[in-house]
Amino acid sequence: MGYPHQPHLKETVVLSQYFGDAEARTYDGWVKRGGYQALEKALAMEPAQVIEIVKQSGLRGRGGAGFPAGVKWSFMPKEKKKPHYLCCNADESEPGTFKDREIMRWTPHGLIEGCAIAQYAIQAEVTYIYVRGEFTEPLRIMEGALAEAYRHGVLGPNAMGTGKRLDMYLHRGAGAYICGEETALMSSIEGRRGNPRIRPPFPAAYGVFGMPTTINNVETLASVPHIINRGGAWYKSLSLSHPKSTGTKLFSVCGNVKRPGNYEVTMGFPLGELIDELCGGVPDGRTLKACIPGGSSVPILNREESESCKLDYEGCVEQGTMLGSGGLIVFDDSADMVYQIMRLARFYAHESCAQCTQCREGTAWTVRILQRILAGQGEAKDLDLLLDLSEQMTGKTICVLSDSCAAPVVSGIKKFRGEFEAYINGTRRPRPVLVHA
Ligand SMILES: Cc1cc2nc3c(=O)[nH]c(=O)nc-3n(C[C@H](O)[C@H](O)[C@H](O)COP(=O)(O)O)c2cc1C
Repeated sequence: MGYPHQPHLKETVVLSQYFGDAEARTYDGWVKRGGYQALEKALAMEPAQVIEIVKQSGLRGRGGAGFPAGVKWSFMPKEKKKPHYLCCNADESEPGTFKDREIMRWTPHGLIEGCAIAQYAIQAEVTYIYVRGEFTEPLRIMEGALAEAYRHGVLGPNAMGTGKRLDMYLHRGAGAYICGEETALMSSIEGRRGNPRIRPPFPAAYGVFGMPTTINNVETLASVPHIINRGGAWYKSLSLSHPKSTGTKLFSVCGNVKRPGNYEVTMGFPLGELIDELCGGVPDGRTLKACIPGGSSVPILNREESESCKLDYEGCVEQGTMLGSGGLIVFDDSADMVYQIMRLARFYAHESCAQCTQCREGTAWTVRILQRILAGQGEAKDLDLLLDLSEQMTGKTICVLSDSCAAPVVSGIKKFRGEFEAYINGTRRPRPVLVHA
């Protein structure tokens, strides 16, 4: 990762400005850098005004689906008859995504500030920050920062001396990917098994403990103080391609690049330039083969598509994929796509909560068929079988975990069919792998 952070030439550094700056982690350091001014400003406004600024900014959810944050907040009941809750989704278990942990590690007060502003805007009494269980260091840092925020009166019964109450708790997950799905996350906070729930009812009507709830990703919430400080119009102006994709986005780049790591760029930044200019390109002597731009759950792009892709919500859809969480997995020409897709499918099979038959059976059978192909025991009809299975796994379950398993399989067969066929017709040497999912 190469910290202390060296801002790259073409990065637009907003969220990651203080990555690598240990002093910014402390309350005093954060205040010295202008921290908590946005919260003070927001608390002096009406909650509806805060929501309006976030709506104007065009900020969209950074957890995967890209839903406009201000619009989501406005779904919360205006007239408060029951307690309201905010859940900050810090589960970050999507393969290839490693940005939220860095926000928590380096700018914990920035996240607390963003949560506090959102909490006030939706009139919630409590924020739960749901942190992935394995994140021991981010958790320790967040714990320390929360204690400091209470000690300095940022949080508590008289938040920032305004007489308003703001409370915040950390909730540690236990290492299940499915708990990042918003309804499973709420079940887990309630102390139950982290199983997704059918919607409707939507969380704004019936969320955690049956009360109106908003769930937002870490990066979404950490963007809010910058928007309050510098205005919705400023944030909206950060856009290189499409007016509906605004602001900066952290991309976690991993795989076959010379300089993997987190890069913050303006929405619409060309994917090819991110790889070549910021990440130093693929290793010497190699060529780009494929990319998965949104964490592992989205369709794979081939080389041509990757080189034409603009990194924003619309640009990714134009190339037949999705921006997702911004975890960019890069493959060079040495990658065995059949093996890589099998590994992804194995992850989903392992993480399926097993409530829905299409997911429980579909993910497990996908792995078995892919392993059979890799072992040189596949048949020509296996590719159609995989595609048929993927269709049964798409749009038919409570949550989209099974769709996420199907996406790389379908796009992989479409774009790299020859590699599958080579294992099936014996022109490629078998690569036996562990048979269990
Ligand atoms: C299987 C699954 C896992 C998910 N994991 C995460 C996660 O780790 N972090 C996250 O922010 N969103 C995750 N999401 C998306 C959340 O359900 C939800 O859309 C998001 O937290 C909303 O926040 P946003 O609007 O700020 O993006 C996941 C979704 C699914 C279906």
